[in-house]
Amino acid sequence: MPVPDLMIAPRYAAHLDRVVAALRLVHECDGYPMAWPDNPTAWLTPPGALDAWVALSDGEVVGHVMLVEGGKVEYAAELAEAAGVPVTGLAGVSRLFVTPAARGTGVAAALLERVEDTPARRGRRLVLDVVDDGSSAVRLYERLGWTRVASGEATWTTPTGVRPRTAAYLSPR
Ligand SMILES: CC(C)(COP(=O)(O)OP(=O)(O)OC[C@H]1O[C@@H](n2cnc3c(N)ncnc32)[C@H](O)[C@@H]1OP(=O)(O)O)[C@@H](O)C(=O)NCCC(=O)NCCS
Repeated sequence: MPVPDLMIAPRYAAHLDRVVAALRLVHECDGYPMAWPDNPTAWLTPPGALDAWVALSDGEVVGHVMLVEGGKVEYAAELAEAAGVPVTGLAGVSRLFVTPAARGTGVAAALLERVEDTPARRGRRLVLDVVDDGSSAVRLYERLGWTRVASGEATWTTPTGVRPRTAAYLSPR
């Protein structure tokens, strides 16, 4: 069933408590992020952040996405080469999540569509990295026509000390 009255809006400071509550549900359901951050608000406002959006349904936050400087994405050099632009010509899609109850209705696709159309992108090519575990996220990007450019071991470790496999994707446009 579609999410009622879905609206994608710029994220304001006043949304942050509701975004953290939504993130908590996602963490408990999917282990995303793998380790719950000491300061979730800071995790949602990382260095290199460009802009952020929320998906709202009846005033409730059901999803979130942000754009970061391209250099913050894993495999930035490979992505820049594939796109034929310098790393500064990339913008990274980051912190994308949808609450479990709102899934399977296109909320993530709506968030990505909004990011594609934003002036904050300033003509930069969109890129992202993702844990390469065949999850909904990987299926979503491939269904929307994103191209896999690189994959390998992450530069970071999970809370249990494992280096997961990650993959990097270039947007269709
Ligand atoms: C990845 C994630 C954001 C996808 O959110 P979503 O809003 O459910 O995404 P979509 O609705 O576009 O697609 C989800 C599924 O619903 C299906 N779907 C989409 N619209 C649909 C519709 N109208 N009717 C029926 N099914 C639909 C899709 O085919 C997809 O199926 P699949 O997972 O078997 O491939 C969400 O699963 C999530 O938050 N995961 C945890 C956090 C995470 O991994 N983030 C990515 C970090 S890189």
